[in-house]
Amino acid sequence: MINDPAMEDKKEFKSQATIEIIDNGPIKITGRILIRDSKRDITDNPEEVYLCRCGRSQNKPYCDESHKK
Ligand code: FES
Repeated sequence: MINDPAMEDKKEFKSQATIEIIDNGPIKITGRILIRDSKRDITDNPEEVYLCRCGRSQNKPYCDESHKK
């Protein structure tokens, strides 16, 4: 359900991605997405990615499971 009044007029709105915050872990994104940093596109249209939110990954922006250590 969309609670944003700006979106109420957009009857065709369809989510193209799902974002899941994993307890004590990364952000899991599935769907059709583009990941971009300030300089470049990092990857285009992956089906599933895990983004680090603990700051310990040596492979940012991706989770490398360092949060488990
Ligand atoms: S969330 Fe997994 S390494 Fe940061």
